[in-house]
Amino acid sequence: MDFVGIMKGKAVSKQKKLVLPEGTEPRTVRAARIIIDERLAASVTLLGEIADIEKTAKKEGINLDNINIVCPHANDRFGAYANEYYELRKHKGMTEEQAKIDMADPLRWGAMMVRMGEADVMVAGAENTTGDVLRAGLAIIGTVPGLKTASSCFVMAGMDSQWGADGALIFSDCAVIPDPTPEQLADISESAAQSCREFLEVEPVAALLSFSTKGSAKHDDVSKVQSALEILKGRNPGFVFDGELQADAALVPSVTDKKAPGSPVRGKVNTLIFPDLGAGNIGYKLVQRLGNAEAFGPFLQGFAKPISDLSRGASVDDIVTTCAVTLSRVK
Ligand code: ACO
Repeated sequence: MDFVGIMKGKAVSKQKKLVLPEGTEPRTVRAARIIIDERLAASVTLLGEIADIEKTAKKEGINLDNINIVCPHANDRFGAYANEYYELRKHKGMTEEQAKIDMADPLRWGAMMVRMGEADVMVAGAENTTGDVLRAGLAIIGTVPGLKTASSCFVMAGMDSQWGADGALIFSDCAVIPDPTPEQLADISESAAQSCREFLEVEPVAALLSFSTKGSAKHDDVSKVQSALEILKGRNPGFVFDGELQADAALVPSVTDKKAPGSPVRGKVNTLIFPDLGAGNIGYKLVQRLGNAEAFGPFLQGFAKPISDLSRGASVDDIVTTCAVTLSRVK
């Protein structure tokens, strides 16, 4: 599966607007040039002090033709953005003064551009931590109607074609919520199912994983997954799922037949829901390193509009890929 090629093709055909808040960061400036040159976006906006962005570009030998550069605190939309932010957060104790301070932060400005429809997508994290990117997104963009939880997924690809969708699966959540509640696990499952549709282009078949299959072990961590399953059933979310299942019971039909006979996910699982961040994060890295799978992500899911976080170790190519994937998700 040429995941990157497919996502880039979608981004080219959609021609959406991208904002990159870390506009003075060298890899980000290089990525912006590639994104415009490859026509992956209709526009790219770099945020930061204008002189600093230009200085970075000059040092990197990058020309900024057809790339927008915006300094939040000097922009003529500053008052309108600060006011929108104040109105949005005043029930949490936000003051007008603090709103102006916060809006000068490129991360929050970028999120506000997406909220206001002046950008379709925000990608950041080459300099900022995951927590900072998430907090800006949560405070300003919020979650998709009907869900309270933002989370993440990886696309794991390049495995034997017997697994998932021709050797590709969604793993979730591997990057955001350390210890999800049952409600959050149900939200993660719904978001991961949507990610499966968008990234793998197949109908989701999800397994809620555990160290227990259908009550084989008793523990609070097992009860949590069982509760999530009941919540999901109550929501009737429109995709096939089952739990709690051990990974082999979820993936290997002969084991499913022994441990969870009659399971609707038998032989068809393409979306794995991990019970917590420890399992998800360790799980994807083991499959990537020991199983030689390709790991794409983490991609954020559950936000009302598409935003993505980067690893601070991201290469220029990683940034371009993440931007293309995020642009491909715009409705
Ligand atoms: N979904 C929706 N809302 C959330 C979520 C979520 N997942 N997490 C927190 N919130 C809300 C809170 O309710 C709060 O709302 P409010 O301001 O309206 O009251 C707001 O977001 C901020 O909450 P905080 O208490 O400041 O944030 P918290 O300390 O809970 O941290 C965060 C949330 C930032 C998402 C945290 O869980 C985190 O840092 N996760 C990332 C873990 C990590 O480091 N992953 C990277 C390594 S793995 C890898 O990259 C592969």
